[in-house]
Amino acid sequence: MKELAFSLWIFFLTCVAAFLSSDLEKEGLFKDGTIADLLKDENRSEDVVGPDVKYCLQKSLDPEDVGCYLNPAQNDSLQECGFNATAKTILVIHGWTMSGMVEKWLQKLLSAIQEREKEANVIVVDWINLAHQVYPDAVNHTKTVGHDIAKFLEWLKDELNLPLQNVHMIGYSLGAHVAGYAGNYVNGTIGRITGLDPAGPMFEGVNSHSRLSPDDADFVDVLHTYTREALGISIGIQQPVGHIDIYPNGGDSQPGCGLSDILGTMAYGGFGEAVKCEHERSVHLFIDSLLNKDHQSFAYRCTDPSRFKKGICLSCRKNRCNNLGYNIKKMRNRRNSKMYLKTRADMPFGGYHYQMKMHVFSKADGADKDPTFFVKLYGAHNDTQDHSVDLPDKIGLNFTNSFLVFTEEDIGDLLKIKLSWEGAPKSLFSIWKKLKSVLYSGGTKENQVLEVRRIRVKCGETQKKFTFCAEDPTATKITPGNEITFVKCRDGWEVKPRKRLHY
Ligand SMILES: *[C@@H]1O[C@H](CO)[C@@H](O)[C@H](O)[C@H]1NC(C)=O
Ligand SMILES: *[C@@H]1O[C@H](CO)[C@@H](O)[C@H](O)[C@H]1NC(C)=O
Ligand SMILES: *[C@@H]1O[C@H](CO)[C@@H](O)[C@H](O)[C@H]1NC(C)=O
Ligand SMILES: *[C@@H]1O[C@H](CO)[C@@H](O)[C@H](O)[C@H]1NC(C)=O
Ligand SMILES: *[C@@H]1O[C@H](CO)[C@@H](O)[C@H](O)[C@H]1NC(C)=O
Ligand SMILES: *[C@@H]1O[C@H](CO)[C@@H](O)[C@H](O)[C@H]1NC(C)=O
Ligand SMILES: *[C@@H]1O[C@H](CO)[C@@H](O)[C@H](O)[C@H]1NC(C)=O
Repeated sequence: MKELAFSLWIFFLTCVAAFLSSDLEKEGLFKDGTIADLLKDENRSEDVVGPDVKYCLQKSLDPEDVGCYLNPAQNDSLQECGFNATAKTILVIHGWTMSGMVEKWLQKLLSAIQEREKEANVIVVDWINLAHQVYPDAVNHTKTVGHDIAKFLEWLKDELNLPLQNVHMIGYSLGAHVAGYAGNYVNGTIGRITGLDPAGPMFEGVNSHSRLSPDDADFVDVLHTYTREALGISIGIQQPVGHIDIYPNGGDSQPGCGLSDILGTMAYGGFGEAVKCEHERSVHLFIDSLLNKDHQSFAYRCTDPSRFKKGICLSCRKNRCNNLGYNIKKMRNRRNSKMYLKTRADMPFGGYHYQMKMHVFSKADGADKDPTFFVKLYGAHNDTQDHSVDLPDKIGLNFTNSFLVFTEEDIGDLLKIKLSWEGAPKSLFSIWKKLKSVLYSGGTKENQVLEVRRIRVKCGETQKKFTFCAEDPTATKITPGNEITFVKCRDGWEVKPRKRLHY
């Protein structure tokens, strides 16, 4: 663990160095070697043995089983290892390492794949020797390794007539770009590449031949889990690099991964853990999709994350939604497709998304300009806690507000919604807000009356739409500290009954 934390620390320093030098010519960046020397792990093993890239076929679910090495120099290794040329071939490619050790996620991913695809040839591409370098050197090696994989696939093609369409490469971090190079070099088109939080430093903004891109396979799908920028760089690449790019929780930070503030985390010594948690979340989301077939997470196409936060993008029409991870449906658009979803903090990661739309009427001019609302959902199976109504801007008065509510549990059919207005100040911030409203509005209570007559709801997971009306049609007014209860009054969103065409 210590070693890992150290290596991540080095990684961070490398990133800082890359940032500090970002104004310099990119090529000459580490040429003089001073920064590279500075960052060198003194205990790094120099005695590299065997080939730099090894292909290990996993034969059993037993983690103790070391697997069987496929060697392009030995045609009979295919038979010895029991390679099945008519089954799917899945290559798993790890990323940068400073410890020189295989990380824990790898075994979890392998067994999830094997569990799901019992007949597949599951191959670990082991390039530890070349990945176990200072970061810029490891980056430089992605090309070499990609080329080696391309030659390996050519060999399988020549020896066994392996259809490249049946090949799926899964690359994590730097491994995603390795897969990109492999797909680019091979003669023919690989079926699919999945990029799990592809590395950002030295890949962000470079031309499409020098990173993972949609040209590298028939279908390229990407998960982005750690795109938050610190000092100008982000560990996961921010730009879309596939046919479908999914940004869980906006892609910049993940629930359950500790302090969101990177410098704060460093101060607490947990920096390595935070990086590991958020960067590696991409792998665990993918594992989840392999294991929990019955509990799929859906991602929704959206032009930007703030629209998604308003709940506007929960549509599945015209392939606007898709499964996250292994079960994704192949979609090849001409332009990159960015998709979003919220997730839980642990497995199973999937939850339920609701768009809620409510028109907030305000009779008075000097009304509280920034009310704090909460909603609580009552379902056939369970109820939720109070969810604060989060909007990128404040609540619009005399305006139809749209917002997103995410529930971690399946509450069953939605029966009732309670809308409440925060009463007694609960935080310093809301005290300040109260104070402000008192100062600016004269503090007259009569002004603090708003009205909501109905809430329109759309569930992303079921694609169902309902209209909820005030339980008591005369009680549609709300004041601080009070609430309105809404019950389902209509299927769909239509305000007026549908016109009948025939009588
Ligand atoms: C390198 O190895 C030495 C002796 O084995 C050890 O004392 C030192 O802590 C190691 N340094 C690092 C950075 O791991
Ligand atoms: C493997 O097969 C290829 C083509 O069939 C052949 O050219 C090559 O010599 C063989 N290599 C070995 C080690 O048998
Ligand atoms: C090879 O894979 C195919 C397709 O998955 C399967 O039908 C066949 O039984 C497998 N052969 C062996 C020997 O496992
Ligand atoms: C990248 O690696 C090649 C050899 O594979 C080497 O010639 C070149 O100098 C390296 N470039 C950098 C910037 O380290
Ligand atoms: C692709 O085909 C060309 C021409 O046959 C060959 O020179 C090249 O080495 C092949 N690429 C790979 C990765 O084997
Ligand atoms: C909302 O509209 C009503 C009448 O339509 C108006 O009296 C009131 O001032 C408006 N409120 C705000 C905050 O603009
Ligand atoms: C209902 O939700 C609560 C948390 O909100 C949870 O603790 C409880 O287990 C749930 N009950 C059922 C039956 O799912």
